[in-house]
Amino acid sequence: MTTSRDGAPKPRARVTVPKLQTMKERGQRITMLTAYDATFARMFDEAGIDILLVGDSLGMVIQGQDSTLPVTVDEIIYHCRAVARGCTTPLIVGDMPFMSYQVDGRDALVNAGRFLSEGGAHAVKLEGGRSVAPTIERIVAAGIPVMGHVGLTPQSVHAMGGFRVQGKSEEQAARILDDALYVQEAGAFAIVLEGIPAPLAARISETLEIPTIGIGAGVDCDGQVLVCYDLLGLTPDLKPKFVKRYAEMFDEGVAAARRYADEVQSGAFPDAAHSFGVGAARPSAAPAAMVAGDTANVVQLRPVYGPVE
Ligand code: KIV
Repeated sequence: MTTSRDGAPKPRARVTVPKLQTMKERGQRITMLTAYDATFARMFDEAGIDILLVGDSLGMVIQGQDSTLPVTVDEIIYHCRAVARGCTTPLIVGDMPFMSYQVDGRDALVNAGRFLSEGGAHAVKLEGGRSVAPTIERIVAAGIPVMGHVGLTPQSVHAMGGFRVQGKSEEQAARILDDALYVQEAGAFAIVLEGIPAPLAARISETLEIPTIGIGAGVDCDGQVLVCYDLLGLTPDLKPKFVKRYAEMFDEGVAAARRYADEVQSGAFPDAAHSFGVGAARPSAAPAAMVAGDTANVVQLRPVYGPVE
C-alpha cells in the first residue's frame, strides 16, 4: 500500500498482463498463489501477491477429491466470483478444468468467456503444449488473456502414471521446451512450469520472452506459485519436496477448536464480555439495543471482507 499526497493509504493499481511482461523484462520476480474464497483473496491482496489463481486444485483442497478431474466450470466460476469480491489488486486467473477446452475450440472459447463475464476473472489458464496451441490462439484472438501450463499437468495424472516429475530424459525435456514455445507462439501471456528439473526450467525461462511461473521447477523461473493450502500448512498429510510451509494453520486450527470445546464444556464460554444483556450492560427502562447510539448490545453485522464500520 502506498500513500497519496494527503497521507491517506492509496490502494495499489491492479496488476495487468502488460505489467507482468514488464516485470520479466526488469528481472522483478512475480508472485502467484491459488485462492478460492474472498477471505483468502483479501489476505493475499494485503500481502501484495501479484496473481491469484482460482485453481482446479480446489477439487483436492476444498472438495476432498483425489485429483482435479471432477471439477466443473460452474464450480470454478463460483469460486472466481468469491475471489473477485475479496481483492482489488492481483490479476485473477481462472483455471479451465478437465474437458472444458479439450473437446473443441468453440466450447473452449465459450467456457473461457464465462470465467471473465460471470466469474470476474481477468485471464484463464489451461494445461498442455502443442496440442492445445490452436485453442489458446482462438481464445487469445477473442481478447481473453491465456496462461499456459506445461511439465507436470495434473489433468493428465493417469497418462503420467501419477503426479511425477516430468522432463528428466533429454527427449522429454526437449518436448517440454517445444511445448512451451508453442504456447508462447499461440499468444499466451505467461506459462506455468510445474514439476520439472530446475535446469530445464531455467533453460525454458531464458528461451521464452513471456514470464514463466514455477512450481516445483527451481528458482530460475520468472515467478513462483504455490497452492495456498500448502503454503499455510493446511494440508497435513501432504508434504511434497517443493512445498515450503510458511505457517502451520491446520495445527493452529485444531488447537483453537480444542480450546473452544474445552471452554464450552466447562461453561467458560461465552462469558459476560461475549454476551448481551449481562455484566456491563447499561440498566435502562427500554431494551438496551433500542437506546439511540447504544452499540453495546447490537449484534455487529459486517461484510466477509472490507473494513469494519
Ligand atoms: O490448480 C492449481 O492450483 C494449479 C497450480 C498448481 C499451478 O494449476
